[in-house]
Amino acid sequence: SSASIGIEDLELAASHHVLDLGRLAEARGVDPAKYTRGIGLDEMGVVAADEDVVTLGASAAARLLERTGTEGLRTVLFATESGVDQSKSGAVIVHGLLGLPSSVRSVELKQACYAGAAAVQTAIGIVARRPQEKVLVIAADVARYGLGTSGEPTQGAGAVALLIAADPALLAIDPVSGVYSADVDDFWRPNDSTTALVNGRLSISAYKNALLGAWDDLQAQGGPGVDELEAVVYHQPFTKMAVKAQRFLDQHTGGRLDPEALEQGAVYDRRLGNTYTASLWAGLAALLDHREGLEGRRIGLFSYGSGSAGEMLTGTVQPGYARPERAAATRAALDARVPVTVEEYEELHERLLGSDEDVETPRVTTAPFRFAGVQEGARKYEATA
Ligand code: CAA
Repeated sequence: SSASIGIEDLELAASHHVLDLGRLAEARGVDPAKYTRGIGLDEMGVVAADEDVVTLGASAAARLLERTGTEGLRTVLFATESGVDQSKSGAVIVHGLLGLPSSVRSVELKQACYAGAAAVQTAIGIVARRPQEKVLVIAADVARYGLGTSGEPTQGAGAVALLIAADPALLAIDPVSGVYSADVDDFWRPNDSTTALVNGRLSISAYKNALLGAWDDLQAQGGPGVDELEAVVYHQPFTKMAVKAQRFLDQHTGGRLDPEALEQGAVYDRRLGNTYTASLWAGLAALLDHREGLEGRRIGLFSYGSGSAGEMLTGTVQPGYARPERAAATRAALDARVPVTVEEYEELHERLLGSDEDVETPRVTTAPFRFAGVQEGARKYEATA
């Protein structure tokens, strides 16, 4: 089909709690400027005891589908690297919570932070085959490193839901993209670990290799050059990474991408922390909400997933993309998060539920859905209202 395909609408969900990184810096004996300026994060999302990637993803999707409706929806793709089960997908749980018809397929995708972009490309393939179909893509993650590790300030939590459709209202994604894969042990999470293991230095060079490799592939495939891009939005494990990425790309291409667009694309990620699969799409939401004059302009989207996979997508922003109500709702969701002290954050961080005994979680979150607890080894979810 020659119809344009891309993002019809998107919605971001934040966690119930937030930790101010100034407080974390104080507790760890670090200059707060290292976090706010050095790595470029002000806050990080912290999930309540009755939240996880499923509740975050379902909340984002529910608000999205309230606007768009579900007509034509036949697929839910759930991208995460902090999934709640080794077998059952988050998609099928969200499918149930949202009361979607049984004639909607549900599956989860994984390749570290890259799975969100992989889900978007998979969705585009489905819509290309049959343009009346729509695909709900959910990217949701809770980033967890060990307490006191160098990765600790780059944790976070959040979800973005995207509706992928033909003739999209927000962003028409180009058929050509640049891809890159290389097997690297820069960041991973073994099956028996609840926190990620990371080689910080290696992860930054692996990100750089994937960025430049994907860029070169984009050029080899006949994709747009740097002068044809108004801005590039990057995967933001911490927002300074996007600054580094843009510097690498400028050096590589001889172009000079607009640093102001970089700041606009970092507005939400500075407050969410790392949201892994959702980070790039939170960056896109922030750019669309804060940059004027994008209609008809082409932007780049760089996704990186450790391990490692990179993809440089490009797309054209559609007329009427600016949605002040959506921007206000996102800001309100970020502002509404309930602050925790470092002690409260540490307690939540170390509170892990096994599957060997039945547990009921305390009622904390005010989001539309909550994780109710474990019964006979199975995780149970419910609507809060
Ligand atoms: N004031 C201002 N800036 C300061 C400062 C101060 N007082 N003290 C230090 N800084 C600056 C440093 O100069 C440095 O800046 P540059 O990188 O621009 O030189 C920055 O703060 C960070 O300082 P360090 O490099 O010393 O920080 P660190 O070693 O403690 O940890 C990290 C940094 C390696 C990124 C660590 O947070 C980490 O391991 N994070 C997780 C891994 C990660 O996110 N990697 C990114 C690529 S992988 C990926 O993208 C996938 C993913 O999502 C995980």
